[in-house]
Amino acid sequence: MVEKTLYSITALFNTPDEIILAAQKTREAGFVRYDVHTPYPVHGMDSAMRLSTSRIGLFAFIFGVLGAVSTILFISWVTISDYPLVIGGKPFWSWPAFVPVTFEVTVLSTAVLSTIAMIVFYFKFPNNAHPLHDTAYMKSVSSDKFGLCIQANDPMFKEAAVKDFLRKIGGREITPIYFDPDEIDHGQTLFDVKFLGVLAVVALTVSAVTYFSLNVLLKIQPFNWMAEQNKLKAQQASPLFHDGIGMRSPVEGTVARGYLPYPFKGKPEEAGNFLVNPLVPTQKVLDGGKSKYLTYCSPCHGNFARGDSRLQGQFPSPPTLQSDKVRNWTDGRIYHVITEGQNAMPSYAPLISPDDRWAIINYIRVLQRAQNAKKSDFK
Ligand code: HEC
Repeated sequence: MVEKTLYSITALFNTPDEIILAAQKTREAGFVRYDVHTPYPVHGMDSAMRLSTSRIGLFAFIFGVLGAVSTILFISWVTISDYPLVIGGKPFWSWPAFVPVTFEVTVLSTAVLSTIAMIVFYFKFPNNAHPLHDTAYMKSVSSDKFGLCIQANDPMFKEAAVKDFLRKIGGREITPIYFDPDEIDHGQTLFDVKFLGVLAVVALTVSAVTYFSLNVLLKIQPFNWMAEQNKLKAQQASPLFHDGIGMRSPVEGTVARGYLPYPFKGKPEEAGNFLVNPLVPTQKVLDGGKSKYLTYCSPCHGNFARGDSRLQGQFPSPPTLQSDKVRNWTDGRIYHVITEGQNAMPSYAPLISPDDRWAIINYIRVLQRAQNAKKSDFK
């Protein structure tokens, strides 16, 4: 058998009044390393033992402030810079909306972090051994008795004298508690390599087994409510709308993210005066413009913009773009026709991006120059 060391002398009492009196007398006798164990919180014990206020309150306060501040910073970052969304016309940093989330996170971080702090700093997790564990004394005080325990490391501790003292203040079943120092002091802390190693192995094993069984063996999607839902494909009919068409156009006045509405709606002259072609007619731009022109414009306007429609009367034939009129138009004026359409010609804005429109115009200029060559061009 291993040699055992004395930890404390314990005594049992029957009523809360008795234990409060006993605690008071122990304190008055000058003991400092003693503790009281009761089956439920006994009011007045703090003052009987002259306990100072617990520091857990300070911990809780710090964790609460930490939770509140980090939440506010996080929401501010999301709403101002990461993903600003206009909601009901409110400003991005609209603090009343932050209150519920901040409140919840404050409470959550206070509760969870205080509990973790208590377990780690006060109970020295993962060390889980205490000399009083598994003793008859602990069994009594966790059911119906009230216990007092004077520790052997108290400066005033003398075994016989302490036993006498406990008997004098009315204690019963006065018992010495021994412990095996090897068993108690493992020197384990949370940052123990072995402990963290075990945690890591457990985490890896559980993740791997879960992944393998759900994703590889059973092929279960973690979330299927996106993949399996009631939905309409783009071209499907829907009885929900009066016109029976499933695909809806954006509500009038919708502004897509990153796109400004066309400012010259119905004002061709202003568009002609203010819009400037931002593209330099490099080979690359012209190649792009040619490809788009041949795709979108040539069926009606002809490959050389001479108005020789290939549509054979299925659509009103357009005028030539080689006219003096169009040759004297600014790029902005042509841009306006592509963007808004003109009489029978529909708008091509939904199909052709602004940059491609300007490239097409550059290519039309090339066609015009080629068809209206001057003498000087041949030199
Ligand atoms: C579906 C046939 C069709 C297509 C495709 C088409 N247009 Fe037109 N375009 C017309 C018709 C028709 C007119 C004449 C409209 C009118 O009566 O004012 C016209 C007019 C024009 C005018 C004004 C000419 C003028 O003298 O007033 C320009 C410029 C123009 N189109 C450029 C383009 C460009 C650039 C494209 C390619 C992005 C294009 N069009 C695609 C049918 C078409």
